Amino acid sequence: MQITLEGKNALVCGSTDGIGKATAIVLAEMGANITLLSRNEEKLQKTLKELDTSIQGQKHQYIVADFFQSEQVTEAIKEHLTQQTTPFHILINNTGGPPLGPLIEKSSIEIIKYMSLHLTTFHILAQSLIPGMNESGYGRIVNISSNAAKQPLLNMGISNTIRGAISGWAKTLANELGPNITVNNILPGPTDTKELRNIIAGKAEQSGRSIEEVYGVLHSKVPLGRLGSPREIANVVAFIASPLASFVNGTNIVVDGGKTGSL
Ligand SMILES: NC(=O)c1ccc[n+]([C@@H]2O[C@H](COP(=O)([O-])OP(=O)(O)OC[C@H]3O[C@@H](n4cnc5c(N)ncnc54)[C@H](OP(=O)(O)O)[C@@H]3O)[C@@H](O)[C@H]2O)c1
Repeated sequence: MQITLEGKNALVCGSTDGIGKATAIVLAEMGANITLLSRNEEKLQKTLKELDTSIQGQKHQYIVADFFQSEQVTEAIKEHLTQQTTPFHILINNTGGPPLGPLIEKSSIEIIKYMSLHLTTFHILAQSLIPGMNESGYGRIVNISSNAAKQPLLNMGISNTIRGAISGWAKTLANELGPNITVNNILPGPTDTKELRNIIAGKAEQSGRSIEEVYGVLHSKVPLGRLGSPREIANVVAFIASPLASFVNGTNIVVDGGKTGSL
């Protein structure tokens, strides 16, 4: 079984680090033309150079935009689409995670801010790209969410809240967008990225334990006994973005080494 994305254009967001970057790399290796999107131009230029171009002379580019600024994202994608002659077939909605802490301690302003970072921006990008997907007869919208969508996590109040909203939003779009467009969520468990390393360092500092001890506790909660790598998440994203996943639609796919306790 061979998976190819030759001739497909993919917009991969939050793609200069972690899961997003690994996804851009894997999709490029499968032959897709990648458009990266995140905030830091220097990191975007560096990531661009890491993308494979050997299959069919894939063409890669980037958009600089901040998901906290939804107007900026709207303008940036609008401008990009007026210049691009072929449509996007694949949208990977992804950005940085929300801050830790109990929900009850979070202000309504903070909740709205992070709801907007994920949900509003995912919606703007989906709305912008769907006409092109319909025109081309091929659409894959893949949202990077969290295993918190299945089983709320301790001390992750905002994350638990927004992941639930993403599930409802994505399922609704999946119901509305057939027959050529699928919409699915990938729910990573603990994955070795900058975001998780920061969380672990914070937990170690708060609890007075060493970083190794905090890692040890986390590993013990995963039946496979370790963290996932960004590439292990990206491989599943790539399958869902490919023609082989043509009947997978409107679902939450947990990629967590077995950590999530629910069925
Ligand atoms: N790692 C895990 O264990 C884990 C587990 C479950 C769920 N998740 C979720 O998976 C998603 C990705 O996590 P990750 O661990 O890969 O994160 P990461 O390593 O911190 O990477 C985040 C990426 O998003 C970009 N980004 C952050 N804020 C942005 C903004 N305002 N506008 C545009 N781009 C932005 C960053 O680039 P710039 O800063 O350069 O813009 C970077 O490329 C998050 O929603 C996270 O909560 C992660």
